[in-house]
Amino acid sequence: MYRFDLSEEDLAIQKTARDFTREHIIPVAGELDENGTFPQDICRKAWELGLMNVEVEEEYGGLHLGIFQNCLINEELAYGCTGVATTVTGNTLASTPIFLAGNADQKKRFLGQLTEELSYASYCTSEPDAGSDVAGLRTRYEKVGDEYILNGTKQWITNGGHASWYVIFATSDPSSRHKGISAFVVPRDSEGLSVGKKENKLGQRASDTRQIHLEDCRVPAANLLGAEGEGFKLAMRTFDRTRPDIGSFACGIMRRALDECVAYANERKAFGVPIAQHQAVQFMIADMAIAYEAGHLLTYKAASLLDSGAAATIVSSYAKAFCADNAMKVATDAVQVFGGNGYTKEYPVEKLMRDAKLLQIYEGTSQIQRVVIARRVLGG
Ligand code: CAA
Repeated sequence: MYRFDLSEEDLAIQKTARDFTREHIIPVAGELDENGTFPQDICRKAWELGLMNVEVEEEYGGLHLGIFQNCLINEELAYGCTGVATTVTGNTLASTPIFLAGNADQKKRFLGQLTEELSYASYCTSEPDAGSDVAGLRTRYEKVGDEYILNGTKQWITNGGHASWYVIFATSDPSSRHKGISAFVVPRDSEGLSVGKKENKLGQRASDTRQIHLEDCRVPAANLLGAEGEGFKLAMRTFDRTRPDIGSFACGIMRRALDECVAYANERKAFGVPIAQHQAVQFMIADMAIAYEAGHLLTYKAASLLDSGAAATIVSSYAKAFCADNAMKVATDAVQVFGGNGYTKEYPVEKLMRDAKLLQIYEGTSQIQRVVIARRVLGG
C-alpha cells in the first residue's frame, strides 16, 4: 500500500516544519556552515516543538509518527540546511535498531532518554577499513561473565561528539562475516569509550562527524540488542527504513535549488532580457522540476510501503539512489544557472552542491544502492 496524497495531519506537520525552517534554520545556515557549528540551539527548539525523535512510540515519550511523516519533516529541514537535518535524523537512525529489536527495558532507558531531555544518539557500523562492506567490520566483542568487552574504532559517526549513547555493531569473529555480528547499546560514559576529533568536511558542516574508539570497553549483557549474530540483518533492516530519509533530504535540496534558480533567473538579465527567457536556462530549470517531482514520488512510495509493513528494500534503494544522484545534478546545475555568482558564498547554491555530495555517500553509496537493486532485479 502506498500513497501520494497528504492528509490534513500531514499538511499540518509539513507546515510546522516549514515555518520552523524559515524562522530558525535559513537565517543561520550559512554561518553554521562557515564555522562548522553544531546546531545545538536549533535542535533544542526542534526538540521542544516535537520535531525530533518523531518515530519513537508514545509509551516511550515520542509521537510514533510513521516514516512518511518523518520524511515530510526531513524535506523541510533539509530545505534550510542538510547538516541540521542530518543532526536531527541521526537520532532516528540510532533509534531504529532499538525500535526494531530492543526489549521494553532498552526502549524505556534509551529511547526514553531522547524524549525526556534534549540528547543525541549515534549509529555505528562504519570503520576506517569497512564502510560499504558491513560484513567486513573488525570491531571485536567477547563475552566475559555478564558483560561484553568491545575493542575497535568506528568512523564517520554522525552526532559522535554529542551522543549520550551509541549503537555499536561488532563481531565475535571476523571470519564469520555477517553471521558473527551483534549490536550493542553503549552509553557515552562507558569505561573504555572515547571520542575522536571532529571531521572537517566539504559539506553538511553543521553536522558533527567523528571517530569513536573502544578500548576494552565494558558493556552489560543487558545492552545486547536482539540475539547474538543478528546484528548484520538488524543493520540492513535499519537501512531499509532510513534510506528514504536521505531521499527526503535530497528532495529538500532539489526544491531549494529550484526555488533559488527561479527567483534568480527572473531577476538576472543577459542579452537584454531575464535569463529565464533563454531556453538554455529554461531547460535546466525544467529538468530540476522533473527530478524533484519524480524523486519525491519515489520517496513517498518507499516511506508509505514501509509504514504499511511491506518489505521495501528495493524501493528504499531506488529512492535513495535516484534522489541523491539527482540532488547532486540539480545542485550542480543551480550553480551553473547562477554562473560566477553561484560559485561564491554570497549565494546559497554552492552550499547546496557541497551538501548534496554526501547524500551519494552516507547510508550506502549510490553504487551500493545499485548492488542492492541489481541483486534483486537479476536474482529474482
Ligand atoms: N533485510 C533483512 N536481511 C537482509 C537484508 C535486508 N535488507 N539484506 C541482506 N539481508 C540478509 C541476507 O538475506 C543474508 O541472509 P542469510 O545469511 O540468511 O542468507 C544476509 O543478510 C547477508 O546478506 P548479503 O549476502 O546480501 O550481504 P553482503 O555482505 O553481500 O552485503 C550490502 C550487502 C548491501 C553490500 C551491505 O553490506 C550494505 O548495505 N552496505 C552498505 C552499508 C552502508 O549503508 N553504510 C553506511 C554507513 S551508516 C551511515 O552512513 C550513517 C551515518 O552516520 C551518516
